[in-house]
Amino acid sequence: MTSQSATPATAGQMSDYYSGMGALLQMAWGDNFHFGYWDGPSDTNTIEQATDRFTDILTERLRLSPGDRVLDLGCGVGKPALRIASTTGASVVGVTINARHVELATERARAEGKADQVTFRHGDAMDLPFADGSFDAVLLFESIIHMDRPTVLREVQRVLVPGGRLALTDLTPLTGEDDTPESFRSMIGADPEDGAPDIATLINAEAWPGLLADANMLLDEVTDVTENTNGTWVRLFENFFKVRREFEAKHGITVEQVLDSAKSGAPTVGVGCLVIAGHKP
Ligand SMILES: C[S@@+](CC[C@H](N)C(=O)[O-])C[C@H]1O[C@@H](n2cnc3c(N)ncnc32)[C@H](O)[C@@H]1O
Repeated sequence: MTSQSATPATAGQMSDYYSGMGALLQMAWGDNFHFGYWDGPSDTNTIEQATDRFTDILTERLRLSPGDRVLDLGCGVGKPALRIASTTGASVVGVTINARHVELATERARAEGKADQVTFRHGDAMDLPFADGSFDAVLLFESIIHMDRPTVLREVQRVLVPGGRLALTDLTPLTGEDDTPESFRSMIGADPEDGAPDIATLINAEAWPGLLADANMLLDEVTDVTENTNGTWVRLFENFFKVRREFEAKHGITVEQVLDSAKSGAPTVGVGCLVIAGHKP
């Protein structure tokens, strides 16, 4: 299995990865860099509506009240953080490894008049610059796949207040093997066989109770939502080609160059999605 011999991505490589994909992702996907959530085939929501809906579904798990302090680890360009602030009245701090995304997210907060309520910092979720007990809730929205799970969960436990809530999504292999499917690595353009660093690691759902217990956290929920999120792949591939002309004119490279390892348009690419919730005792 190639993932066993792959070299973990450094912070710089991870940041570069999102800088490279960012423009295409934003044009095809919108500003939520996470799966959409649909009720089923009759749900005709767009990817923008369905990704916002998934934000709301995770937000419910955080059980927020106005004034609560939320930490969003791996915050992308800030759309989920700003939506959480609007829908709950909580204040949110987003952290991402990509410095450019901090600028974009900060600009977005200013434009929405929420610069006091929602702030963004450049940093590593596995080594947080916050004191113990600084937050009432922590969100990891499709970002933990890029991190060493035990390390980030220890940091989450440390910065949460007692009783503080955690909600996250994780991606999981549908192959039955406890390993990252090659189809997924290939799709995200991070195939170690091509010399690429190990950008993402997927684990089986069964690992989650132990991961939270090892971090001294209590598990409230592990829900497999793959059937609701699977529609993302097809819509994303359709959208990549819809934005082709605009993207290529703007960036001077082809969609194929960005997705050159996207050999499969298979809807699941062998990957499912989990919603996980827990809290600090
Ligand atoms: C799939 S995107 C999800 C972004 C955002 N949560 C959303 O839903 O729109 C993964 C994010 O994790 C960030 N990331 C990856 N490794 C990180 C690390 N070690 N510390 C902080 N952020 C990280 C990336 O920069 C990116 O913003």
